[in-house]
Amino acid sequence: MAGTNGKHASTLRYAHITGWGKALPDRVITNDELAQIVDTSDEWIRTRTGIRRRRIAVDPSETSATLGTKAARAALEVADLPPHKVDLIICATSSPEHTFPSTASLIQDGLGAVNAGAFDLSAACSGFVYGISLASGMIGTGQMDNILVIGAETLSRIVDWSDRNTCVLFGDGAGAVLLQASPVPGGVLSSVLGSDGSGGDLLILPAGGSKQPATLETVAAGKHFIKMDGRAVFRFATRVMAEATLQAIEKAGLSIDDIDLVIPHQANERIIKSSMRQLKLPEEKIFINLYDYGNTSTASIPIALCEAVEQDRLKPNDNLVMVGFGAGLTWAATAVKWAVPGAREVPAWRVHQRSASYGLAHVRSRFLRFSRKVEGSLVTEDGDAWSEVLSRRIENWRRSREE
Ligand code: ACO
Repeated sequence: MAGTNGKHASTLRYAHITGWGKALPDRVITNDELAQIVDTSDEWIRTRTGIRRRRIAVDPSETSATLGTKAARAALEVADLPPHKVDLIICATSSPEHTFPSTASLIQDGLGAVNAGAFDLSAACSGFVYGISLASGMIGTGQMDNILVIGAETLSRIVDWSDRNTCVLFGDGAGAVLLQASPVPGGVLSSVLGSDGSGGDLLILPAGGSKQPATLETVAAGKHFIKMDGRAVFRFATRVMAEATLQAIEKAGLSIDDIDLVIPHQANERIIKSSMRQLKLPEEKIFINLYDYGNTSTASIPIALCEAVEQDRLKPNDNLVMVGFGAGLTWAATAVKWAVPGAREVPAWRVHQRSASYGLAHVRSRFLRFSRKVEGSLVTEDGDAWSEVLSRRIENWRRSREE
């Protein structure tokens, strides 16, 4: 695998965010539409949460992996990096396509990131910040150069659409960043990770795991849907968001006044404003976009980051804090010195080349699946002669693609 085995361990390395991207389903569901299916109102949802609408993946072929792949492609586009140079894909998700294979592996296949390792990270809504922390550690220790950190969700598939306590809160979407090694000081400065498993039952998907495998009974009881004690999560969130933000700032050797922008997990406007008031942070330094997307769990921070960049809310050398909380219970914060150089001019031919490479990634995936089937049917009693021949052919084909 590219970029492994401490090849740069002797020089100081910093992990910079050099690419970002988001993907959202087209279908917008307003509060008024929700009021037609559960006993709620636009007024209640707006005043208690701030949410006005959310995006929902109504097309079954749109999944956490397809949204994550789109967001990751957009991030690679911004960074102008071909997918075969990605060393690792971390996908934080609370709604993975499957327990296994990981959604990250499906994204790896969709990108044609043939040299990347891939795994899912489960820390609920704190997962994206956990991923940033891990990736910056891998880069800082010289193990890898280019890491995609993705938050991807289709929470609408695990929400009980008859439960007004939860269904009004969540939305679907994905966001991604590319972290790259650089000798230029800055990038990820600090991170703080926390967990309190004693609060695990406050926000939980009770069945479908190994403790309560899915049965007719668990499905009939709706135990495959999100269950939440909203008030308890609210109290927990307002406490840890402020604490974690402060800890990340201090660990980075900064003070509150040095912070230019905070991007909090977009769960509830009241939670965000109350936490940031505790820190005496002026409202113009807090980025909120939950009005349009609701709580997209792991995807909320990277989607907000993309929109902050689109709205010119981040300039080179700005100090940024991203902070999240979620089921587990978990919390996480990271301080980042935003050191992205001005917009790069990417030649049109390279954009076309990358777009063609995604088409080839699809063909490659189909070919590998087909080869595996053929391989299975050709294995003979006297050994795996055919499988060896095929493996060699696949390997040669793969090498020729990378050249
Ligand atoms: N529409 C109308 N009324 C509602 C709705 C609704 N959608 N939902 C609840 N209510 C009712 C309740 O039944 C309750 O009625 P009651 O007083 O007759 O019992 C009343 O509204 C008030 O309920 P509260 O729970 O006190 O409302 P609160 O102001 O706490 O707001 C909310 C509820 C929005 C869920 C809030 O507690 C919250 O945001 N909690 C945090 C949730 C969160 O962030 N979860 C995600 C964590 S991230 C992750 O890991 C996925």
